[in-house]
Amino acid sequence: MQNLLTDIATAAASNPDKGSVATYIPELADIDPKQFGISVALANGDVFCAGDADTPFSIQSVSKVFALALALGHVGDQLWNRVGREPSGLSFDSILLLEREDGIPRNPFINAGALVTTDTYLSGSSPREALAALLRFMRAAADDDSIHINEDVAKSEIATGHRNFSLAHYLASHGNMRNPVDKVLGTYCHQCAVEMSCRQLALAGRFLVDSPAMPTLVSFERRRRINALMMTCGHYDGSGDFAFRVGMPGKSGVGGGILVISPGRAAIAVWSPGLNRYGNSKLGTEAMESFAHSTGWSVF
Ligand code: DON
Repeated sequence: MQNLLTDIATAAASNPDKGSVATYIPELADIDPKQFGISVALANGDVFCAGDADTPFSIQSVSKVFALALALGHVGDQLWNRVGREPSGLSFDSILLLEREDGIPRNPFINAGALVTTDTYLSGSSPREALAALLRFMRAAADDDSIHINEDVAKSEIATGHRNFSLAHYLASHGNMRNPVDKVLGTYCHQCAVEMSCRQLALAGRFLVDSPAMPTLVSFERRRRINALMMTCGHYDGSGDFAFRVGMPGKSGVGGGILVISPGRAAIAVWSPGLNRYGNSKLGTEAMESFAHSTGWSVF
């Protein structure tokens, strides 16, 4: 495993086409695109790393996996009255289908659906309490209390998040927001501004693996369903391409991170800030394709 990860990191470092860093969140625009890290946390607790695996990065939409688990913990299957379970075939921040589909977002991983999950775990508490609960969940999953929120990234996104505010107001106009839009957006942007290294993210991702080395945080049934949603919707309009090339459930973020699950075996975190045309890490996707090829860990 260690040799494979070292080879993958070496190949990434010498690839001149690193994709383009996201610029719509000003705080993320200055990240050095030459960075690359990868970590594998096996179900038995062993961890293997290569490249910049201990450099913290903004996990952005990868946080939607943890937020979904938390929201399901609050309301269970009632969540599915407010958000669907189908791929959207559109970009992560699209508003197009919301009008046609009466303010019910297609799935919990596009921004509109993630705003509903944030609204769900926020209900009944203040944003500070809700974010503390989210961090508690992530820290327990990773067994690492140093996981934190980058306030500057959160502020930068709140200041420029016109598209997300529009989505939230549109959801509210359809009665699909329980809390004030400002509160939901503040919580959502802080959720996305959580920072982790590849090592921490792989360890945190084990709650979706069935790992005897850690306490069970979600039931078998819920884990199976979250993995199914990651496979079908975790890369937005690039989800089919990721399933075709990698064949494992994955969730990406515009910070360039991807969390991938090999059910029963391992959680894998890969990070490279340059993105492809779908807004998913370019080298991260290529690295996972090569990893899946070498390990035979595609679920298909
Ligand atoms: O809502 C946003 O625009 C960002 N906080 C997260 C988007 C994101 O990570 C999309 N993933 N590739």
